[in-house]
Amino acid sequence: MRPRCSSRRLHYLPGKSPTTTCASWLRCTQLTALQRFYSQRVAKFNGVKDSNGNYPVSIIEGDGIGPEISQSVKDIFAAAKAPVTWEPVDVTPVFRDGKQTIPEETIESIQRNKVALKGPLATPVGKGHVSLNLTLRRTFNLFANLRPCRSIAGYKTPYDDVDTVLIRENTEGEYSGIEHVVVDGVVQSIKLITREASERVLRFAFQHAQEIGRNTVRVVHKATIMKMSDGLFLKVAQDVAKDFPGITFESELLDNTCLKMVTDPLPYNDKVLVMPNLYGDILSDMCAGLIGGLGLTPSGNIGDECSIFEAVHGSAPDIAGQGKANPTALLLSSLMMLRHMELTQYADRIEKATFDTLAEGKALTGDLGGKASTSDYANAIISKL
Ligand SMILES: NC(=O)c1ccc[n+]([C@@H]2O[C@H](COP(=O)([O-])OP(=O)(O)OC[C@H]3O[C@@H](n4cnc5c(N)ncnc54)[C@H](O)[C@@H]3O)[C@@H](O)[C@H]2O)c1
Repeated sequence: MRPRCSSRRLHYLPGKSPTTTCASWLRCTQLTALQRFYSQRVAKFNGVKDSNGNYPVSIIEGDGIGPEISQSVKDIFAAAKAPVTWEPVDVTPVFRDGKQTIPEETIESIQRNKVALKGPLATPVGKGHVSLNLTLRRTFNLFANLRPCRSIAGYKTPYDDVDTVLIRENTEGEYSGIEHVVVDGVVQSIKLITREASERVLRFAFQHAQEIGRNTVRVVHKATIMKMSDGLFLKVAQDVAKDFPGITFESELLDNTCLKMVTDPLPYNDKVLVMPNLYGDILSDMCAGLIGGLGLTPSGNIGDECSIFEAVHGSAPDIAGQGKANPTALLLSSLMMLRHMELTQYADRIEKATFDTLAEGKALTGDLGGKASTSDYANAIISKL
């Protein structure tokens, strides 16, 4: 028999309006959703090896510098003998039933492989184009955006030894896209926060803290002003924290976090920060600024079924095809991917070779003040493997 739902939250019965008291708890669809998220590890990688013992990984090389930096990652993986077979996929938009989407074969490849590495995609300016990044996020329900920012030895920035980890809710909040004109000159934009999406990302934050050996999860919010929406996010965080007794749970107001981080980011080195969508979007770029900008920042878009890892920078059309691009951000994203796939020893080896190459400073690309080409830099990393 299915367990009874003991919560007092809204219950959903098939064919009935939501109610706060559930007449027939055993048939409650809310309970089904909760069970899914309470009983399983969130976003566990379930990929299957091919007949050669490699994990197939979908790769979207992307636009502009995308193919050049993707090639570097492929060369470095081949030299490190990482057990990965690349499956190139195309995300040129197609229209189905009047809606922009990505080709069916691409969706199938990513769903089959459970993981993808993505180069930057150029978004055409103008009306009628939905960002492909947003399309991917929605297609695969990539609910958490994971952004670690770690200082790179050899690349001097105002602060040394920054090591922040930020997780942003990726599907709702201020970016739910619910906006309308009330009357001429008055518009309304709705910030949607649900218990289910909040719980999913918060649970992932606590799990991730455990995985990377951090003892504190800190929720960043503005529940003093947005009492109901951020209040719910905070309340769910307090509930989820009870399932992780080994992790200290803290909360902090967003404005306070910004002030403290730019004054001294080092106290954040032992924490995982987690927050609603808009705050995460802004604060993650601020963290990237602390380590020298978006060019060196990796990220992961995490979902329950699939996850997509990507550099945070764009397609850099100004230097595309010239062999000047720095592949570090995509490479660090691919290392996050290897760790997600539990291929940690390969990630550690490539990471050491990368950081050693950067610290040595002999083969740096132009954006880091060097003269090396994209492939010179990749070869320098390969020589250290
Ligand atoms: N995740 C994504 O796919 C993503 C993110 C941001 C922008 N974009 C798209 O990329 C296109 C260009 O955007 P933009 O010019 O505003 O930002 P950009 O990040 O592409 O470039 C900004 C500056 O940084 C430099 N740069 C970026 N990445 C670099 C790298 N790896 N090595 C060396 N230099 C690098 C560029 O040469 C440029 O001078 C747009 O179409 C935009 O929509 C995509």
